[in-house]
Amino acid sequence: MDKTLLSRTAAAMVAKGKGILAADESSGTCETRFKSVGVECTEENRRAYRGLLLTTPGAEQFVSGVILFDETIRQKTNDGVPFADYLAKKGIIPGIKVDQGAHALALCPGEKVTEGLDGLARRLEEYFRLGARFAKWRAVITIGDAIPTHACLYANAHALARYAAVCQEASIVPIIEPEVLLDGSHSIERCEEVTEATLRATYAALAAHNVSFEHTILKASMVVSGKSASRQAGVDEVAERTVRVLKRTVPAAQPGVVFLSGGQSDVAATAHLNAMAAMKGLPWPLTFSYSRALQNPALKTWQGQAGNFAAAQMAFHHRARMNGLACQGKWKAELEKRAA
Ligand code: 13P
Repeated sequence: MDKTLLSRTAAAMVAKGKGILAADESSGTCETRFKSVGVECTEENRRAYRGLLLTTPGAEQFVSGVILFDETIRQKTNDGVPFADYLAKKGIIPGIKVDQGAHALALCPGEKVTEGLDGLARRLEEYFRLGARFAKWRAVITIGDAIPTHACLYANAHALARYAAVCQEASIVPIIEPEVLLDGSHSIERCEEVTEATLRATYAALAAHNVSFEHTILKASMVVSGKSASRQAGVDEVAERTVRVLKRTVPAAQPGVVFLSGGQSDVAATAHLNAMAAMKGLPWPLTFSYSRALQNPALKTWQGQAGNFAAAQMAFHHRARMNGLACQGKWKAELEKRAA
């Protein structure tokens, strides 16, 4: 366990003005996304699309790291350079999704637990050799009638803690991602309560497993109204409630918090991040680790056509730049300047 490397990686992941691109969609998720723009989900199309994002000129100004999928870390650019080596040369840290998906949690209807602990230490050794310096594990918490249960929160927290410990031993920084889903008609108050319970369970498990908080990054979901709730909270309320919950539960020793976008529109995800990052006296830097909110405009522009490649890169560059401003609380001012 190389603590110096872990500290350096964690600090670089949340460097000022930068955030993380999540490009680790499983092949199933990729299929859904590609279908929405009429692209066949072949291995070569996935390589071409990921290559488009990763080789976007200037992205390194706003992107500190990229979360890759197992297939992608083994793929190469059009010039035959392994993606991980290409990123590292650009000063972007390669990361790797190591969980094996959320599966039904026995005796807990409607709830899931994330799998992938078996053989993880061996897989991490290989990923380190391939260039990965951080990893991601996503737990999924669903809000519904009488759920999440205590069993679901603790099963997922335990898995996250086991994963984080194995990562740290392998000198790979674990991104701890307990995502509270936004699907449902629940209120923002209920989301706040569930997010707090989820983070409490997660940090209790991390402590119990001797995980060093200094060498982890939290990937949090924002506290928002359920997608189909009748009242949709505004930007300031989302920002206040999210930061309140984080302050109650996340140790100040943690080097940074990154957010997932979770199905929010690209602009909403940027606006929420901006409002939070603009707050004074935060104990940790806050930034983005978005998949959909960074990629959607690029994917829609690309549509699988080589002729749209440059325009799609520009669309990605734009969202990366906007979020690079948002994580410094400077996005709104920039918009107002442009409108004036
Ligand atoms: P979204 O930003 O699309 O929620 O994806 C982030 C992520 O990595 C989910 O695990």
